[in-house]
Amino acid sequence: MTKFKKILAVVLAGAMLMAFAACGDKNSSSETESKNDTQSAATEAGDSATTDEPAGEPKYATAGKLTMATNASFPPYEYYENEQIIGIDAEVAALIADKLGVELEIKDMEFGSIIGAVQTGAVDIGMAGMTVTEDRLKTIDFTDSYATAVQVIIVKEDSEIASADDLEGKTVGVQENTTGDIYATDDLGEGNVKRYNKGNDAVAALASGVVDAVIIDNEPAKSFVAANDGLKILDTSYADEQYAIAVSKDNKGLTEAINKALSELKEDGSLDKIVEKYIPAE
Ligand code: ARG
Repeated sequence: MTKFKKILAVVLAGAMLMAFAACGDKNSSSETESKNDTQSAATEAGDSATTDEPAGEPKYATAGKLTMATNASFPPYEYYENEQIIGIDAEVAALIADKLGVELEIKDMEFGSIIGAVQTGAVDIGMAGMTVTEDRLKTIDFTDSYATAVQVIIVKEDSEIASADDLEGKTVGVQENTTGDIYATDDLGEGNVKRYNKGNDAVAALASGVVDAVIIDNEPAKSFVAANDGLKILDTSYADEQYAIAVSKDNKGLTEAINKALSELKEDGSLDKIVEKYIPAE
């Protein structure tokens, strides 16, 4: 599907940008480059963090703290339990803060406000199951990816919608400003998309028949479907994505320090352990 190519191009662009952070030409990536190029670019990106010219010391909005913006209505990545924000992102961020020698502070906000908060330096990072996209890379940097995701389609159990093609002319619910919103609007047109503040509000609208389908990330989809009777996730996926942490373009030192921390957490199994805790193997 073209959607997949689109995503591959985005990931490729991300890898290229990271590899050639200082001198990269954003428009040079093309869909024709092979997968191997993507992989070697990604490997070089990983190495470059320690060999290239120093990016400087990490800067923090508040001294001694890693301030993280999120939107805590996105289980299992971030959600409330007993008035506390928990989830994969919250736990991974806590380990990163530990490694950086600072304290983690999480700020909950609308998903659409996160990038602006990172860009202006009001917060240090945005971590919210956030997908790397070419458009977002224009305003902020992303760290290396720490998770993969899939955009899926949720429908009622008795729905006649069986694939992405069947969405034509239907009304689709999405969380505002997410990639699900962007794809649905691109593919189906403004008039066929209803935007909600939270993913779960879109799912509630589906359950009550206000929308015909919801496009959202696979793991939150599973959790919302489990909490609502009569819904199912279609087998066909809508798009493949990479999650990464958003950092200001003026804070290369922080991006570099987080990438180092992330690679340690990947290597020593801590990242896998957190993921398994929240997403038990089926
Ligand atoms: N992965 C999607 C995106 O980046 C959705 C993320 C929504 N995250 C959240 N915490 N509500 O647009």
